[in-house]
Amino acid sequence: MTLDTTPTTSWARAGVTLPTLIVAPAPEPDDEERTETPPPPTRCPECDGAGFFVADVPYGHPRFGELIPCRCKLAERQRRQSAQIARMSNLQSFRDLTFATFDPDVPGVRKAYLRALDFARQPRGWLLLFGPCGIGKTHLAAAAANQALDRNERVLFAVVPDLLDHLRSTFGPSSEVAYDERFELVRTVPLLVLDDLGTESATAWAREKLYQIVNHRYNLELPTVITSNRAPEQLDQRILSRMFQRAFAGEILRVSAEDYRRQIGSGQSSPPATT
Ligand SMILES: Nc1ncnc2c1ncn2[C@@H]1O[C@H](COP(=O)(O)OP(=O)(O)OP(=O)(O)O)[C@@H](O)[C@H]1O
Ligand SMILES: [Mg+2]
Ligand SMILES: [Zn+2]
Repeated sequence: MTLDTTPTTSWARAGVTLPTLIVAPAPEPDDEERTETPPPPTRCPECDGAGFFVADVPYGHPRFGELIPCRCKLAERQRRQSAQIARMSNLQSFRDLTFATFDPDVPGVRKAYLRALDFARQPRGWLLLFGPCGIGKTHLAAAAANQALDRNERVLFAVVPDLLDHLRSTFGPSSEVAYDERFELVRTVPLLVLDDLGTESATAWAREKLYQIVNHRYNLELPTVITSNRAPEQLDQRILSRMFQRAFAGEILRVSAEDYRRQIGSGQSSPPATT
């Protein structure tokens, strides 16, 4: 006998034979969410709210008693997974920095905009954005990361000085921590943004940690965006030499434009999204 695995009529309704589903209490809404009216609870008509079907097979069949998740259960898992990916991304304060809110007509930024757009479509290799303050490096890096997040891909937006603060407090001299989740994530996440490289305090320790991260991602060819307002030559030579491997890293984009923050200040452009 062939077994139909679609949770339709060939599966018996869960009904009273199913064990009671233990539903985890919903997390406390934060202040922002508290003001919204929660949607009325809906009971899935397919499984009558049970979340699962039991296989409609006779006693003795290997799949007898097996629980098959209903479509509503699978959708709920997907939603939970997306929420977790979004939380992990650290992009919460950068969600409004998108390609749609970036003005590519600002003189000097078009090439970087097009390269970032191209990178965001299918992150591969490295995207290296260099240039003075306020020209949109963080904006473009966040836009690429946001686009990947919208596709439900795992991304991490790390502001380098903050990341090093975290690592210092975790791996401090008195710490016995041998493994750190965040450090592991920075090394291995499918898309990483290292924003503001070169502004961190350049202690030997910090240089070493950053080198370890960059080198790991270099060896594994993991998609990475790096922004910096330093001249590339001022960075750790070991990192720089990896950036210069053009076939992998592409070119270092040196963006030369006016500080957008100042343009806004002088009223020449529309208000920007905040960083
Ligand atoms: N071309 C642009 N279109 C729209 N907004 C822009 C543009 N360029 C910059 N901005 C806005 O200007 C502000 C500064 O940009 P951003 O933070 O990306 O600069 P940056 O190059 O990362 O500067 P820094 O080196 O100081 O970190 C942000 O609010 C950003 O959204
Ligand atoms: Mg920046
Ligand atoms: Zn259901």
